Amino acid sequence: MKKLNVAIVGCGFMGRTHSNAYCKIGNFFDVPYEIVRKTICDFNEEKARAHAARWGFESVETDWRRLLDREDIDIVDICLPNNMHAEAAIALAKAGKMIICEKPLAMNGPEGLKMVKAVEKAGVPNLVSYNYRRMPAVTLAKKLIEEGRLGRIFHYRAKFLQDWTISRDLPQGGDALWRLDVKVAGSGVTGDLLAHCIDTALWLNGSMDKVNAMTETFIKERKHTLTGKVEKVGIDDACAFLARFSNGSLATFESTRYARGHKALYTFEINGEHASIAWDLHDSHRLQYFEHRDPGALRGWRSIHVTDGDHPYMKNWWVPGLTIGYEHSFVHQLYDFLQGAASGKPTGPTFRDALETQYVCDAVLKSARTSRWEKVAKVR
Ligand SMILES: NC(=O)c1ccc[n+]([C@@H]2O[C@H](COP(=O)([O-])OP(=O)(O)OC[C@H]3O[C@@H](n4cnc5c(N)ncnc54)[C@H](O)[C@@H]3O)[C@@H](O)[C@H]2O)c1
Repeated sequence: MKKLNVAIVGCGFMGRTHSNAYCKIGNFFDVPYEIVRKTICDFNEEKARAHAARWGFESVETDWRRLLDREDIDIVDICLPNNMHAEAAIALAKAGKMIICEKPLAMNGPEGLKMVKAVEKAGVPNLVSYNYRRMPAVTLAKKLIEEGRLGRIFHYRAKFLQDWTISRDLPQGGDALWRLDVKVAGSGVTGDLLAHCIDTALWLNGSMDKVNAMTETFIKERKHTLTGKVEKVGIDDACAFLARFSNGSLATFESTRYARGHKALYTFEINGEHASIAWDLHDSHRLQYFEHRDPGALRGWRSIHVTDGDHPYMKNWWVPGLTIGYEHSFVHQLYDFLQGAASGKPTGPTFRDALETQYVCDAVLKSARTSRWEKVAKVR
């Protein structure tokens, strides 16, 4: 079997979920490559060495540029903060590496377009890590929609709620809090959380035509960890938007880091002519399903426990009835990516697919500024 030498760049939260996926995948899935955890790269050398020891990487780098000339690296998995995705992905694709890149693809649409052109010109397999598509219950939702069970779709409703930035004493910037620094994150909840909701929505319900958004930055100034000075906060703390999909359905999306009591409440509900489906990350292995065509006396919401052998991905794990969790979505996305790389039939979201999400985010942020409906740019 062909060896696939892996380098992960960035060994924070996502570096860990991706490392875990490379460790586990061969134990549970038949993959077309022999995975070799070759190099972990982080500019914090001590952290990289500890990560290499814990997760079984053969070597450590502190600068991703060193990977450009390393012929022993086949795939680079970019788990860096948002403002570093583009430079690394473009250069590494040019050097012929397959690329997995964390979401959001880029800081904005134009930057994302350059990344799409780079991977397509280089002809390298590419994927953006919108992992929620690979939660088995979400994949099952996609299957039910594709089978036409919902019929015409009228409504899509999604939210992603957190509560971790409410304190005004929380600084912005630096290693731990780059998400609050607009120069590193690009945006606030729009690119961080709504991007996930948008990716799932585009996948399940097709393209979006236009959006009308409002955003708010509740705490306007915070001390910057790196400069020590109190600086303006440039990110959106909360965002809510309306959208019209090309299939005629109406949608509402909401995200905030100010919803006291919620840590990662990602939910969506879709209402169709014949059926509705709903999903909640906090109850991630269940898909709620309402089928109007059931006999009247039996009609009601079914709570499908997505753990059976005929549910997506589940036959590879334990026995029916036993659950898996968040981290498994990264194993599934890696499995799909590797199948695509080996067969030449890519599974999305490719960089090109993720550009559409980026364009929706751009339109949302523009609409929040203009207080008007804004069209979503088309990916050509
Ligand atoms: N798919 C998801 O559900 C999900 C969840 C969280 C984060 N993310 C995305 O993953 C990316 C990383 O987020 P995170 O939460 O892992 O961040 P993190 O802060 O936990 O980790 C980032 C790592 O990158 C390292 N780093 C920073 N600059 C570097 C450089 N120039 N060279 C090498 N290493 C460098 C840091 O030392 C740190 O270890 C972001 O784009 C984020 O949006 C995705």
